[in-house]
Amino acid sequence: MRILQFGRTGQVATAVQAAAPGRAEIVALSRADCDLEISEAVRAAILAADCDLVLNTAAFTHVDPAEARPEEAFSVNAAAPGAMAAACAERDLPFVHLSTDAVFDGLTDRPYVESDEARPLNVYGRSKLAGEQAVLAHSKAVVLRISWVFSRYGRNYVSFMLRLAREREVLKVVADQFGTPTDGEALADFLVAAAPRWTAASAGDPIFGLFHFANAGETSRFDFAKAAIDRDPLTRARLEPTTQAAFAEPAPRPPRSPLDTGKLQAVFGFTPEPWRPAVERTADRLVAGFPA
Ligand SMILES: NC(=O)c1ccc[n+]([C@@H]2O[C@H](COP(=O)([O-])OP(=O)(O)OC[C@H]3O[C@@H](n4cnc5c(N)ncnc54)[C@H](OP(=O)(O)O)[C@@H]3O)[C@@H](O)[C@H]2O)c1
Repeated sequence: MRILQFGRTGQVATAVQAAAPGRAEIVALSRADCDLEISEAVRAAILAADCDLVLNTAAFTHVDPAEARPEEAFSVNAAAPGAMAAACAERDLPFVHLSTDAVFDGLTDRPYVESDEARPLNVYGRSKLAGEQAVLAHSKAVVLRISWVFSRYGRNYVSFMLRLAREREVLKVVADQFGTPTDGEALADFLVAAAPRWTAASAGDPIFGLFHFANAGETSRFDFAKAAIDRDPLTRARLEPTTQAAFAEPAPRPPRSPLDTGKLQAVFGFTPEPWRPAVERTADRLVAGFPA
């Protein structure tokens, strides 16, 4: 199983590379290998590759800067994945792409299912939604929407909060934003495990299409941070709840965007772990690597 992976240094990219040994060979392209702002380079990389599946883990993920740089966001998050899907269609290769809960407006009273209407509130969400639509034109495409990704790798909320909690006396955390954390290492394991199924399947198989992938349960940003920080015996900070409005970030966020994973469970037989033990395990591993 050879996987051509766009993205080498990002959080999910690194988790996939860690999950692969003995199961799949990953050929991971960094920005220097292939800049996603150049659609022709993306197409050329796929047409030249000796691979069984293409996976896109790269994206313009800077939610606030995207407000001021919409062209770059749309180029990387919509045009590039569209070019990847088209090149995969040319070669009859399966293509797996990652999207986000930020395609929703967050005005919901229940977890979102795949068929719910997407109404993004910010440029990042709009660019990711345009990417989904372009990708799903390929009959062997898979789009996994994920949310609040954490892992031992890269920049992520859990590692960031653990570090801040060692540096500060008081840590203000948003308590009025709700969602489902996603264990990036469980995601990586799922992607590597499912790759042979996607490679063997024909167009029209239910394992292609749009899916939600997240841990089980729902929480607030505050309780998500607290679950991690409570694991660190050397934490200094006292956590104080605050509101999204108090942070006054340039990009509005959906207030409530939990993802329902029922379709994923039915089609792949995958049972997501509750979010709390997954966060605690990751926090323990990160803390073990911190200076004493
Ligand atoms: N993290 C989350 O909480 C979250 C939530 C929902 C969905 N997602 C989705 O999950 C996927 C993976 O996210 P992640 O957390 O792994 O992101 P990440 O850690 O921010 O990594 C993004 C990667 O994309 C690369 N990239 C950005 N612009 C590029 C360009 N023009 N050309 C080539 N590479 C480029 C970056 O390269 P450089 O290192 O060179 O900048 C980086 O390696 C993305 O599709 C994201 O939208 C993430």
